[in-house]
Order: sequence, then C-alpha cells, then structure tokens
Amino acid sequence: MKSAAMRERELALLELIEKLRLEGASKLAGKIIAIVSAKGSQGKTLLAKELGWILDLIVADLDWAGGCVSRLLGCIAAQLTSDRLIEAIFDPKGRAPRLHRSRGRPDLVLGSDALEENQPPPDRMTELLLSWTRQWQQKRPQGVLVDTHPSSSAALGAAQAADLVLMPVMFGTGELDALETALDKLRDFPLLLVPNATPRKLEHLPGYESKRLLALAQHYDVPISQAFIRHQSWLPHRQLRTVIAASPSFGAKTADLTDDTTALAQEVIRYAA
Ligand SMILES: Nc1ncnc2c1ncn2[C@@H]1O[C@H](COP(=O)(O)OP(=O)(O)OP(=O)(O)O)[C@@H](O)[C@H]1O
Ligand SMILES: [Mg+2]
Repeated sequence: MKSAAMRERELALLELIEKLRLEGASKLAGKIIAIVSAKGSQGKTLLAKELGWILDLIVADLDWAGGCVSRLLGCIAAQLTSDRLIEAIFDPKGRAPRLHRSRGRPDLVLGSDALEENQPPPDRMTELLLSWTRQWQQKRPQGVLVDTHPSSSAALGAAQAADLVLMPVMFGTGELDALETALDKLRDFPLLLVPNATPRKLEHLPGYESKRLLALAQHYDVPISQAFIRHQSWLPHRQLRTVIAASPSFGAKTADLTDDTTALAQEVIRYAA
C-alpha cells in the first residue's frame, strides 16, 4: 500500500506531466532540440525518451548502435517492412519519414543501423531535419527532439538545425575532457549543459570536477541547467522498455528521477520556446 504522502506526490507528478505535455506541444511546436555529447554514455538516450514524452515531442532517433532510443523503447526498425529513415534521407521528393506511434511513447522516427553508412554530411542533415519538421507540423504542431550518436556528422547536422542543444555530462575526468573538446567545437551553438548522474545531495558533488565544469561553462559562456539529473543506481538494470514519466503510477525511485526530468523539461521550454 502506498502511503498518503507518496500518493499525493504521485498525483502532483501526474498533474505536472499532463500540464507539461500540453505546454510542450504548444510552446515547442516547430522547434528542434538536439541532444549531443562528444563522449558516449552520458544519458542522451535516457533524456530523449523521458523529455520526449514529458514535452510531447517527436523523437527522431539518429543513433545506430544498440543503445539507441528506438531500442530502449522496444521499437526496432528491422521489424518493419521498410527502413523509413533511410528512405526519407534518399527520397527524391524530400518527404519526411512516417512516424511510429504507440501508446505511452513519444512519436518516433525509428533509428536505423544503416544510418552509420548512410549519414548525410552535416549541412544536408540540417536541411533534412528543417524540412521534415515543417512537414510534420502540417499534421500536428509539435517540437522535435533528436537523439544522436557521439561526434557523428548526423549529430552535427542536428545541432546546426537546433533551437537548443542539450549536452548531458557526467562528472568524470574523461567526460569533462570530452566536454571541453565538444565546447571548443560547438561554442557558438545554443547549448545547455545538463549535469547527469550527480550525487543525490548537491553538497556531495565532487569538488574538483564541479569546479572544472563551472570553469568550462564560464570560459565558453555556456549555461548549466538548474535541474541536475541525480544518479539512480537501478536505471542501468531496468528491463522495462517504457518511458518512466509515462507510467500511471510512481514509486519513490521513479518519482525521484521524474522530479529531475520534469524540472529539466521546464527549463527546456524556457530556453527553446
Ligand atoms: N542519472 C543516471 N543515473 C544512473 N544511471 C544513468 C543515469 N543516466 C544514464 N544512466 C545509465 O547510463 C547508461 C548510458 O545512458 P544512455 O544510454 O542514456 O547514454 P547515451 O549518452 O545515450 O549513450 P550512447 O552514447 O551510447 O548513445 C545507461 O545504462 C543508463 O541507464
Ligand atoms: Mg544513446
């Protein structure tokens, strides 16, 4: 049995998500948000599926490795009869890929393993995303969130098309080295750094890495989100291929994560709208 306090917390979250989905669809319609990182495993795909749902965005999966958002949501392009993403990239008429819709998941452009070999150059990927976004608006106004493969040309194309570029970063030496390289390259983009897998209490943030992150943000004049995504030790072992924020009920752990992702979603609206 859930405690009355937990039930109250759950109801507040469900209400907030309903409100954010309406706000996301209206304020982010036609906007493009890219999630990029120079290093892998920073939490891009986690954020793509959760923010995609919370803000009612189309999620375009431009990754091809096993850890892509389509797979994490149990939707595998190879099970379809056609590879909609690759067909759209080469479509002489420039038609946008058809969206994969299923209950409790954001509308998806399914990823394709063939993208690695068939990535358009960055400027072409930018053109395609801008054109597809315009076409999708004719059916239903919505923003587009692009999940990417680290340091790929498709990721650069998505960043060039984006109104906001989210860059999740974990607090480690290699992670911050990679961030520095990425900031050097993307310093003029509309970036928002998102600290991920942080300690539960901010006073426990590692001192050296926190100072280094702040120094990088100041040097490159890039904002850091107020919302931090705290470390959830159960997340890598979660077997359900669902959006956590789309669940009709929450436990303490999933509510903790969703507190963080909904706080980030509100910032995304402020930055991108
Ligand atoms: N806040 C967090 N707490 C605990 N684990 C996390 C957190 N964020 C992400 N993870 C875990 O880290 C791993 C990498 O996350 P994710 O796949 O979202 O990263 P990614 O940047 O998309 O990686 P890739 O570059 O390989 O696509 C996953 O096992 C995920 O469950
Ligand atoms: Mg990923």
